[in-house]
Amino acid sequence: MIISAATDYRQAARRRVPPFLFHYADGGAYAEHTLRSNVEDLADIALRQRVLKDMSSLSLETKLFDEPLSMPVALAPVGLAGMYARRGEVQAARAAASKGVPFTLSTVSVCPIGEVASAVDRPLWFQLYVLKDRGFMKHVLEQAKAAGVRTLVFTVDMPVPGARYRDAHSGMSGRHASVRRMLQAATHPSWAWDVGIHGRPHDLGNVSDYRGQPTELEDYIAWLGDNFDPSISWKDLEWIREFWDGPMIIKGILDPEDARDAVRFGADGIVVSNHGGRQLDGVPSTAQALPAIVDAVKGDLAILADSGVRSGLDVVRMVAMGADTVLLGRAFIYALAAAGEAGVAHLLELFEKEMRVAMTLTGARTISDLGPDSLVPGASRDGR
Ligand code: FNR
Ligand code: LAC
Repeated sequence: MIISAATDYRQAARRRVPPFLFHYADGGAYAEHTLRSNVEDLADIALRQRVLKDMSSLSLETKLFDEPLSMPVALAPVGLAGMYARRGEVQAARAAASKGVPFTLSTVSVCPIGEVASAVDRPLWFQLYVLKDRGFMKHVLEQAKAAGVRTLVFTVDMPVPGARYRDAHSGMSGRHASVRRMLQAATHPSWAWDVGIHGRPHDLGNVSDYRGQPTELEDYIAWLGDNFDPSISWKDLEWIREFWDGPMIIKGILDPEDARDAVRFGADGIVVSNHGGRQLDGVPSTAQALPAIVDAVKGDLAILADSGVRSGLDVVRMVAMGADTVLLGRAFIYALAAAGEAGVAHLLELFEKEMRVAMTLTGARTISDLGPDSLVPGASRDGR
């Protein structure tokens, strides 16, 4: 097991929330090889220690598309985050804003955009999925604009959901799932009281807003499969590019050719990601994929990265490999599930402290000082 800021919160989350929710967040696709290698490959990257360089002043601040960030971190879009704490997206967005980093609201959040945006004084990022019902996309983009969103994250690695066998075992989906979920809630009374009863409605807030009726979530995983559109191609993104005047980031790039296509398309950024090992098992870890993508497109658009980041040291590793900003997925969900807004704020503080130590001991005074020189040569998985 890898010890990290996120690991303790993971244990606490496991105790607090019903198993179907813990495993939905914690699990990945198929045999979970990619999920494991995301974490392990990243943790294996050796930082280059430097000493006696007067590191008394240090800054973690950075900017992305003119937005100031207190550190090169943002919270990733996570569907159903509102099930992990009462109105969970609101709590996580508040924690992110208080620590000076962006929060990305998922298309399939529990809380609708308006509810989250009105609870924080920092503009949200919004993540869009292509649903078969295209009217939804226009509607939700208008909602996002009205809520002050500038940065749009467009996720492209989920034309179909990966096979998540843990969800079938845990009661998240499959036969008798709703009865099993109720039994699990009954044995997790503090969650049941706080979120199960007082955190309602349990719904896909953005979808329900559009359809004017609650989203039928008896089997959420099956719902994703039924409603997400496998026919999506670059062409479908063109009208969005025209409609959206803020920065547009394409999330789910794992190959340099696709990264070049994103540049040709006119994207402002990409997220190098394998969706946290939740889609196609057997694809490379992000730590493995990132260097070649950086070589291909660095300087042409912003490079964000995620998958496997469990500590501030991991953020430093990703930035040293060429990422401009790093997204946290499970790391913040564990903290949210364990301790709500305070948990996420605390996790971000721990990440910041870890980054400071790592920068001090690698001789990097600013984020732009982090680069290949901050790593031991040959430290990346692809041998660089
Ligand atoms: C996700 N992820 C995700 N991505 C996205 O674009 N839209 C979404 O709705 C979701 N939903 C979601 C739910 C849960 C429970 C998890 C854990 C992840 C993927 C997420 O944004 C990010 O890419 C990964 O979480 C990164 O991997 P790590 O950091 O969790 O290992
Ligand atoms: C997931 C989707 C919702 O990973 O992105 O579960």
